[in-house]
Amino acid sequence: MELLPLLCLCLLTRSGITSAQLNGPPLIKVEQDRDVVLPCSPSTKENIEFKLFDWKKVAQKDAGEKEVFMYDAGIHYNSGRPGQSEQFKGRVSHFPDELKHGNASIIIRNTKISDSGEYTCHFPRLQPPQIFHIKLVVGASPKPSITSPKETKDWSLLRCEVHGNPEPEVEWQDSAGNKLPAEKPQVEKIGDLFYITLNVTVTKSDRYRCVATQETISHQISAETDVYISGASPKPYLNILETKDGVLLQCEVLGASPEPEVKWQDSDGNMITSEEPQVTKKGGSYDVTLRASVTKTDHYRCVVTQKTINHSISDKIYVPLNAGSQTHPSDQNLRKVMIGVAVGVLAEFLFL
Ligand SMILES: *[C@@H]1O[C@H](CO)[C@@H](O)[C@H](O)[C@H]1NC(C)=O
Repeated sequence: MELLPLLCLCLLTRSGITSAQLNGPPLIKVEQDRDVVLPCSPSTKENIEFKLFDWKKVAQKDAGEKEVFMYDAGIHYNSGRPGQSEQFKGRVSHFPDELKHGNASIIIRNTKISDSGEYTCHFPRLQPPQIFHIKLVVGASPKPSITSPKETKDWSLLRCEVHGNPEPEVEWQDSAGNKLPAEKPQVEKIGDLFYITLNVTVTKSDRYRCVATQETISHQISAETDVYISGASPKPYLNILETKDGVLLQCEVLGASPEPEVKWQDSDGNMITSEEPQVTKKGGSYDVTLRASVTKTDHYRCVVTQKTINHSISDKIYVPLNAGSQTHPSDQNLRKVMIGVAVGVLAEFLFL
């Protein structure tokens, strides 16, 4: 038995309705000027075409109880029945085809902030009578709109505009979810809505998100934008790493955006076999390290290409492989000694 209310709550949540507080009536949020369906069905799901149901808006501090929609066996406010509150005239309908499935939901069109409040859906003549409560909040923020009114090759000004009531809290985040230091938000109240504008200047390529939160109605909505700040690759750093088996060339590219393609070439321009590039992404730009083993003396070139921005840069390094670049000073000393010994031995041999 205890599972039933929980189940209902879950079903309601799935259809975009969330519980206001844990024990409060289900909450429906809608943007101003949109239409909203207030759901209601008697627990018996019986045919209600010939029954009575009555939707009211509960009295608030500044307004009394209001008649929203009454249906009595086919007679209702849209078929000439008197008594509907001025506020709802011409804006509320039921769903005639749904009545036989026990569906007494109504739609309120063109919602206004003043429609916010608690509603009841009452079946006074069912045995036993049933009453359902629902809370409506008009003024939920729509998806923010993002523009970029100014940009240079080094930075971009991003502007987020959003409105709502209650006043939404707006912030800019980077792709890692860090809040960005933005300008002070500009707030303007037009009619019943708060219009917020929040600017931020970004200097790195990344995906940025503007988040609007209306905490009191548990509403959060966001929009994203990809910023691409040209990060043409600087000249790569080249190094010769010696290993037991030969020479390993290393090409390091730092802070390139978009991701560059890195290649090693020999002096004839032939691409040489490399290891898998190691790529690290740091806040929108890329560091790439590419290593290749070589066995011949040559000039080797590391070429960095960023096709989408038509950028290519390279640097070359001379690798003298047979000239003893592999031998360490101690080896050279050893060689001298060996030659000395050999010469000595030869001399001795000649003298004998
Ligand atoms: C009642 O009808 C409305 C309008 O067709 C629909 O949106 C809603 O889901 C229905 N409710 C149920 C419980 O079937």
